[in-house]
Amino acid sequence: MSDEPIANDTKSRRDLIHRLQDYLTKKFQVYSGKDSEGREYEDIQELWTRNGFLLDEETDLSSSEKWYNKSHLYWETEENVQATIDGMLGGFEHLSERDLAASKIFLENLIQASPEMSKRRHENQLSSCECGAGIGRVSKGLFLPFGMQRCDLVETSPRLMQAAPTYIGEEEATKCNFICQGLQEFNPEPNTYDIVWIQWCIAYLTDWDLVNFLYRMGKSLKKGGVIVMKDNTCNELAFDSDKTDGDITRSYQYIRALIEEAGLRIVTNQDKKEMVRWQDDFPDEIWPVPMIAITTKE
Ligand SMILES: C[S@@+](CC[C@H](N)C(=O)[O-])C[C@H]1O[C@@H](n2cnc3c(N)ncnc32)[C@H](O)[C@@H]1O
Repeated sequence: MSDEPIANDTKSRRDLIHRLQDYLTKKFQVYSGKDSEGREYEDIQELWTRNGFLLDEETDLSSSEKWYNKSHLYWETEENVQATIDGMLGGFEHLSERDLAASKIFLENLIQASPEMSKRRHENQLSSCECGAGIGRVSKGLFLPFGMQRCDLVETSPRLMQAAPTYIGEEEATKCNFICQGLQEFNPEPNTYDIVWIQWCIAYLTDWDLVNFLYRMGKSLKKGGVIVMKDNTCNELAFDSDKTDGDITRSYQYIRALIEEAGLRIVTNQDKKEMVRWQDDFPDEIWPVPMIAITTKE
């Protein structure tokens, strides 16, 4: 028996996919998609089936290895990605400043809205986790200047993780823990973080691994803490899969369905409005990027 929402067997994965499709149907949203090689997919089930999943336990295991090896190799290879901001942002280095500026305002609002985080901020006790951190752009540009006392960075590529302390700077790096691990395996201690930041990396996780990862990150929050997910969304289809680095961009509603599956909810403010802010100053060629504040249900 698994104590995570999605048990590690093919039937549970298949059931998840059916629930996701039901969710999208109820929201009058499409669940079809496409990939970068021009293939069209009728639904989410076809996406995962064509990637070798949902057949039986054994093929699921080898497909999982294949799925994660592809993105790992992509990010680990210097010819594909330089260990720089430009490398992290796929040639959009110039957007980093705008991105971090909007994130800072969002983070400030979230901390002000949480009495527990405000108190810990006052006591210099805030802790954060940057997921899919690359060289630590968010830790260096947002968390450390913000006064986080502890920053954990989780990243699958050893090459990028090794570049992180130098990029962050020797002194600030003493507040950081560099954890070289896939998010699909990362399992932090409960009650550890005020802020968990997941930016531009959920596309590399399968649906079931993403749900279980979010569930574990929910448990890792301190009281009053928040997970922020900031990522690309596609708007006409439910998903758009890029075969180059093995990623899948999902629609906003698809992402919401996964958040609910993890037993989490979107944070609401005093006026009961959901704390979701869309980055509104990126050029049109960039997918729409929401910042979604997520927390546990209790
Ligand atoms: C587009 S970059 C974004 C980096 C960083 N989040 C930022 O905003 O600057 C995607 C990062 O996700 C990492 N990544 C991809 N798959 C991952 C996985 N399964 N677990 C952890 N990190 C992963 C890549 O190695 C890369 O560093």
